[in-house]
Amino acid sequence: MNDRLDGCVALVTGASSGIGEATALALAARGVRVAIAARRRDRLDALAARIVTAGGEALVAVADFADETQAARAVHETEARFGRLDILVNNAGVMYLEPVETADLGRWRHMLEVNVLGLIAATQAALPGMRERRNGHIVNISSTAGRTGNPGGAAYSATKFGVVGFSEALRKEVYKDNIRVTVIEPGIVETELREHIAHAPTQQAINTWAESMRQLKGEDIANTIVFCVSQPDHVNINEILMRPTDQER
Ligand SMILES: NC(=O)c1ccc[n+]([C@@H]2O[C@H](COP(=O)([O-])OP(=O)(O)OC[C@H]3O[C@@H](n4cnc5c(N)ncnc54)[C@H](OP(=O)(O)O)[C@@H]3O)[C@@H](O)[C@H]2O)c1
Repeated sequence: MNDRLDGCVALVTGASSGIGEATALALAARGVRVAIAARRRDRLDALAARIVTAGGEALVAVADFADETQAARAVHETEARFGRLDILVNNAGVMYLEPVETADLGRWRHMLEVNVLGLIAATQAALPGMRERRNGHIVNISSTAGRTGNPGGAAYSATKFGVVGFSEALRKEVYKDNIRVTVIEPGIVETELREHIAHAPTQQAINTWAESMRQLKGEDIANTIVFCVSQPDHVNINEILMRPTDQER
């Protein structure tokens, strides 16, 4: 039986570690030609080498998604190299947790730029080609923090609720052109994400909480993304909320 993903083209943002890296590998294993984007070129080069060694095709697109021009450029580089873009996985993100009262607004502005504006800019750049070919799938990575708020996570939740609202409105704008939109809302995943929390007490609290459970792995999210994008054309999985079995909130 033909794999419907074989020969497709995907751009995975935030592919230099964690969920994005696992997703790029999982898609490549299904015959998808993958463009991998992030800021750390050395990580992307190493990942591209793994994909190519396994018989796949990969394009490294170094881009800072806090800059919407660079986000759009990653899309255009993908189209230029592979001739089209079928699947956009908007995964690049940061999680700066700290209490509202003392938060560094510069840091939070940066988080809004990457998690929301970067995702919007990449989507905007991808739509004309997808509409022209009447084929496309946009997968946006939100979080359980896009469904509920917790102390320290006010601005992170603002970005992830933002991704959920954006995704639902986007779906209504594009579904008639056979473009599908999926939002994934993972609970705790074992990645580097928590390493960038500058507020030490908050970082310690979330690390202790995460280590108290069997965390999800990047591969768990990657497998879910592959499941969503490999559905037949008439099936649009709009939203998946997934937690570690041990995670309560
Ligand atoms: N881990 C969790 O518990 C969890 C739960 C729910 C949702 N998520 C979401 O999952 C996504 C991936 O996170 P992860 O857990 O896999 O963490 P991660 O290992 O830290 O990966 C984050 C990725 O985003 C990239 N990134 C960050 N800032 C960027 C920027 N300015 N421009 C381009 N790329 C940037 C990073 O690459 P560079 O540093 O090389 O740029 C990295 O590849 C995020 O959107 C996160 O909010 C994670």
